Amino acid sequence: MKGIILAGGGGTRLRPLTGTLSKQLLPVYNKPMIYYPLAMLMLGGIREIQVISSPQHIPLFRRVLGDGSRLGLEITYAEQAEPQGIAQALTIGAGHIGDSPVALILGDNIFHGPGFSSVLQGSIRHLDGCVLFGYPVSDPRRYGVGEIDEDGLLLSLEEKPERPRSNLAVTGLYLYDNDVVDIAKNIRPSARGELEITDVNKVYLEQRRARLIELGHGFAWLDMGTHDSLLQASQYVQLLEQRQGVRIACIEEIALRMGFIDAEAVYRLGRELGASGYGAYLMEVATHAGAA
Ligand code: G1P
Repeated sequence: MKGIILAGGGGTRLRPLTGTLSKQLLPVYNKPMIYYPLAMLMLGGIREIQVISSPQHIPLFRRVLGDGSRLGLEITYAEQAEPQGIAQALTIGAGHIGDSPVALILGDNIFHGPGFSSVLQGSIRHLDGCVLFGYPVSDPRRYGVGEIDEDGLLLSLEEKPERPRSNLAVTGLYLYDNDVVDIAKNIRPSARGELEITDVNKVYLEQRRARLIELGHGFAWLDMGTHDSLLQASQYVQLLEQRQGVRIACIEEIALRMGFIDAEAVYRLGRELGASGYGAYLMEVATHAGAA
């Protein structure tokens, strides 16, 4: 399974924060936003990941994540010259996807909840068609909205409907088999001029090969499009991290846990971060895991 993180867009609703910086590099409490979606892909066991962003921001992502080798990953970069919809990531990323299945995640989405990594790994193992993740929201009209039967088979899907048929918003994490490359190539821009991911998903829906997994109560799905939602995400992460003494989306720790790198490597990464609490945490994790 290949991974794609879509980290494009102008971040217009976050101005003036996004004057020079990419939205997906803004801080969410103690780490850049892109750590969170990257952590999700890693927890799914995905190591070959392409970051898609604007030509202007790619050098910044490169400085933050490099080629991924320090985390036991292979990270590549591809340009999205003009943002033309989420599904464009699948055409830009076609070369990276090759003949593999792919997990696409939006660079401003946080997923956090008990047992999610095993749900994700299970969905990847048994993937046939596409798997979406639905989250109950109070205002589904702002999202893609899915309706499912008791087995999780998707029955209907609508993009920002006036009268939603359910309260299940389709989140920004999409698992596809390799058919998606052809499907994405063949969809047409919508009325708002975008290659809509919902149109890709509708092809799978018509084939009755689209499933939607409901993320229940106690799960957190946050997208960070506005100043308030950005701050709320930071507060959420701060609260849980301080209260529980763990780190959310600590990519070095996840790389260790997934067996991508060893404890010595985590210790070195921690030491490089010097005096920060994040660095100290990494050294502690590494020592626990047997680093000398
Ligand atoms: C996009 C998708 C929508 C999905 C949402 C999740 O909407 O089109 O189906 O529910 O992401 O964040 P956008 O944020 O581009 O309006």
